[in-house]
Amino acid sequence: MATTTELVITAAIGYLLYQFLSFYYIRAKISHIPTIGSDSFIGSYISAWKLLFSDDSHIKEGYRKYAGQAFKMPNLTTSSRWLIVVNGNQMVDELRKAPSDALSFNETTLDVLQFDHLLGRHAHVPEFQVEVVRKQLTRAFSGRFAEIQDEIQESCNTYLPNGPEWKGLQAHKTLIHIVCRTTNRLFVGLPLCREPEYRQIQEDWTIQIMVTAHIVHMFPSILKPLVGKTISKVKTAAKKVEKFIGPTINERLEKYERLGEDWEGKPNDLITWLLDLAPQENRNVEDITVKLMLINFAAIHTTSLTLANALFDLASRPEYIKPLREEMEEIVKMHGWTKDAMGRMWKTDSFMKESSRMAGVGAISLGRKAVKDFTFSNGLTIPAGYTVATSSAGIHYDPNIYEDPDTFNGFRFSDMREKGSNEYDPLRHQMVSLDSTYLLFGHGRHACPGRFFAVNEVKAMLAHILINYDIKLPGDSREIPRGSWFAGSRAPHSTAEILFRKRQVE
Ligand code: HEM
Ligand SMILES: *[C@@H]1O[C@H](CO)[C@@H](O)[C@H](O)[C@H]1NC(C)=O
Ligand SMILES: *[C@@H]1O[C@H](CO)[C@@H](O)[C@H](O)[C@H]1NC(C)=O
Repeated sequence: MATTTELVITAAIGYLLYQFLSFYYIRAKISHIPTIGSDSFIGSYISAWKLLFSDDSHIKEGYRKYAGQAFKMPNLTTSSRWLIVVNGNQMVDELRKAPSDALSFNETTLDVLQFDHLLGRHAHVPEFQVEVVRKQLTRAFSGRFAEIQDEIQESCNTYLPNGPEWKGLQAHKTLIHIVCRTTNRLFVGLPLCREPEYRQIQEDWTIQIMVTAHIVHMFPSILKPLVGKTISKVKTAAKKVEKFIGPTINERLEKYERLGEDWEGKPNDLITWLLDLAPQENRNVEDITVKLMLINFAAIHTTSLTLANALFDLASRPEYIKPLREEMEEIVKMHGWTKDAMGRMWKTDSFMKESSRMAGVGAISLGRKAVKDFTFSNGLTIPAGYTVATSSAGIHYDPNIYEDPDTFNGFRFSDMREKGSNEYDPLRHQMVSLDSTYLLFGHGRHACPGRFFAVNEVKAMLAHILINYDIKLPGDSREIPRGSWFAGSRAPHSTAEILFRKRQVE
């Protein structure tokens, strides 16, 4: 009889052999695509781990080396364990236009974030929340700008110093609180947006998903459901959120039932919009709660990263403070704290856009998993099951696209807008515009539907901070502490400080 040890060894050898064979089987279909990193069985695994924690230098290297072509990189979070990166305008254009039944956005999300295992049934609830963000929310936020402004002011009073002495604060962490409160002022209103437990959950659960997804990825497929179920914190988090908004949702549901779809005094808020668009079987407390959480998932960290990057860029380049402050003060004086006023701040818009061009939120954009073979017009085929993306880092630093791309030029885009010729369409160079040379918000049919709100919100925050506070880096440094990279995403240094003091108004 075999001993337990022998059984374990046999199983391990069998598993390795299976991994070995499937590795070469999978690689064979894309072996003609050049590789950044190693492409051997063990080597690619090691490369994938290194890439998980490395910055964008490898992907930029690929972009330069294989200009206008494709390359592949080992990747731990795609089911094929490869990411094919396509370069050049032609392929990027075809990538964004590809039909979703060939190159799928949501299959990529399911894959990378392991939603099947971490969200359970909710991974497959129809995505009506995307439509809500694109339409109702985007339409509504300009009418709510006074509330948004009020929350920016209140949260800055809470988290930033109120006196004339300089005070150092861990910038990224502090800004997450301000963003979470302000964003949720629009999503759920007062008093919930200030509720500490609610806020904490919305701030934390995105990060929990990122971390737990990577843990699930490390297990073989047959163990993933069990591991996912065990370590997922989504259910507990959703239950806590339900405690806060469950009664409101139930009250609304009861009114829909009793008074029909359009009852008098129906609130015009996110819960209503979600309920309006939800298919009948998803019109319940649990599903609406998870949708609210998914919108927060998409909104909070992306927005706070963008704000933090802009503030670090500003604190380290004090020469920009005066011209930006002048623009902000003048426009706010004339047009108030309105969306219209934000739209007039070309210099601020340009500064934010430049900040995100260079720092961005990640090196990779337009990740799409092939659900059937997809062939680009140049003949490159992405076989079903493989994931393709493009390199925003490569594009954003391409000297053929951006003059002197390694230099921060805060007024790069406002200068282009002011030229105003046909070639320089003033709308084209706004931060919210979609363009294959600027991929912060993606491009094509899945481009970020929350970007109008996000850009206006960040702009209002920057304006409020700059008008009311002085900022600088410790020791008047002009060097921003290095950010950190994880899985192709970049975040500012987590404990780096910015000094703030309340401006003394004469
Ligand atoms: C500066 C902040 C933000 C950045 C940088 C950002 C970036 C992105 C990117 C890169 C995508 C994927 C696009 C693609 O692959 O083509 C995306 C999708 C999405 N974003 Fe944003 N986003 C931001 C803020 C927001 C906000 C505030 C909301 C909600 C109010 C939001 C809601 C969404 C949703 C729902 C999707 C999925 C779209 C779909 O499934 O078609 N985002 N975002
Ligand atoms: C993915 O997107 C397609 C169409 O774009 C949609 O029909 C499908 O329901 C989505 N899948 C999930 C899991 O949401
Ligand atoms: C792996 O591929 C996914 C899917 O596009 C991407 O989101 C992620 O950033 C990649 N990871 C690394 C380390 O490049």
